[in-house]
Amino acid sequence: MSKRKHLVAPSLLSADFAHLHDDITMVNQSEADWFHVDIMDGVFVPNISFGFPVLASIAHYARKPLDVHLMISDPDKYLGQFKELGADHITVHLEACTHLNRTVHAIRELGCTAGVAINPSTPVSLLHEIVEDVDVVLIMSVNPGFGGQQFIEGTYRKIKELRRLAEERNDRLLIEVDGGVSIHNALALLKAGADILVAGNSIFAAKNPIHAIAELKRIKPDLISV
Ligand code: DX5
Ligand code: ZN
Repeated sequence: MSKRKHLVAPSLLSADFAHLHDDITMVNQSEADWFHVDIMDGVFVPNISFGFPVLASIAHYARKPLDVHLMISDPDKYLGQFKELGADHITVHLEACTHLNRTVHAIRELGCTAGVAINPSTPVSLLHEIVEDVDVVLIMSVNPGFGGQQFIEGTYRKIKELRRLAEERNDRLLIEVDGGVSIHNALALLKAGADILVAGNSIFAAKNPIHAIAELKRIKPDLISV
């Protein structure tokens, strides 16, 4: 059973973009650990979120690390710009990178921590040759592109398999889970081996988002028996 301290990363995709400053302030004041920032290009995923000017504004007000999740084709072209604008952690999709090893090392050379994300249909076994070179693996628990989708149950099996792989090959690896995460499945996700919970809709659509973050943060997987 995991005794690691888990992190909570609210996804700004579900924030109110007309009042983004308010939502950033809320996250600053909350128990959240990171800001999760979803960049979509309309090519790798069937949606466009926001780009550099909005990221710059977020970085200006955010007082916690920026976890930038790139759902874009050919991310190599833009890594330097994301770093310049304030990204602390950069995650690229395995499915979007022809030379993933090169991309991951480029992220680290910029001074960011490097993450690799896998889609729901991508097996954990495809991470075997990269797991030692990354800081984070992000397991998508919905098909990427939209907030507020239903959690895919097969995710638990993938987290457990990845945790076993990490124990053998990279015990510093952080496992991030993204999509359909809420107070209803967070405990099970942490018990399966997740370290970072990304949550959009379940935080920003809550009556009290600060409380929703606190609830996710205060779960103690090692004190509750299965
Ligand atoms: C989806 C994004 C997620 C999204 C999660 O492609 O990567 O970060 O914002 O939103 P929820 O928690 O609403 O599923
Ligand atoms: Zn995301």
